[in-house]
Amino acid sequence: MTNVLVIRSAATGDASVSNTLINAYLAALPEGASIVERDLDTNPVPHVTQASLAGIGRQAAEGEGFAAARALQDELIAEVFAADTIVIGLPLYNFGMPSTLKAWFDYIARAGTTFQYTAEGPEGLVKGKKAIIAHARAGKYDDASGFPFAVPHLKSLLGFVGVTDVTVTTAEGLAFGPEAAAEAIKTGTAAMAELA
Ligand SMILES: Cc1cc2nc3c(=O)[nH]c(=O)nc-3n(C[C@H](O)[C@H](O)[C@H](O)COP(=O)(O)O)c2cc1C
Repeated sequence: MTNVLVIRSAATGDASVSNTLINAYLAALPEGASIVERDLDTNPVPHVTQASLAGIGRQAAEGEGFAAARALQDELIAEVFAADTIVIGLPLYNFGMPSTLKAWFDYIARAGTTFQYTAEGPEGLVKGKKAIIAHARAGKYDDASGFPFAVPHLKSLLGFVGVTDVTVTTAEGLAFGPEAAAEAIKTGTAAMAELA
């Protein structure tokens, strides 16, 4: 049985293109797949604050919020380790990822658990998994140029924790009129269904 973890980060709910791409993937999955969903819009991970710093392992364990932050971090990390495939919705917000998605990464990156430092440098400990990025953006860009930086940033973070098998499906040019948007969504949903 395939275990799929879905991370949604769009603030647009049912109108979301990244969510539409994810839905196309989920609808095409073989029967029996186990799906765990985490919607960072309706159920956001808190930003890292002074109170939660210790809980997520970035400071000595003291202060309020330690236990709550650690419990949430444990839960999020367990979801990652339980998955064979991680599907991430990535709307482009001001050339980067939504801050809700960055906050999720700030919680799942824990030294000694999802990555570690070795004599040779950092080593990701989340091994043997695939990630699929469902990317949506109003404009049209050349990702090879490094700008915008949402996709390279997300791929780098995934790689840092050990997830290097990453496939990106992009629906772009969504602001270029209804026809262009419909075509981008059609191509993107077909690509996502194919991946499933
Ligand atoms: C706060 C915000 C910032 C955005 N910044 C960009 C941007 O820098 N470049 C771009 O092409 N589109 C930008 N957009 C448009 C979104 O990427 C586009 O609407 C996309 O469809 C959002 O994904 P969703 O449909 O899953 O919500 C932005 C939208 C919002 C709400």
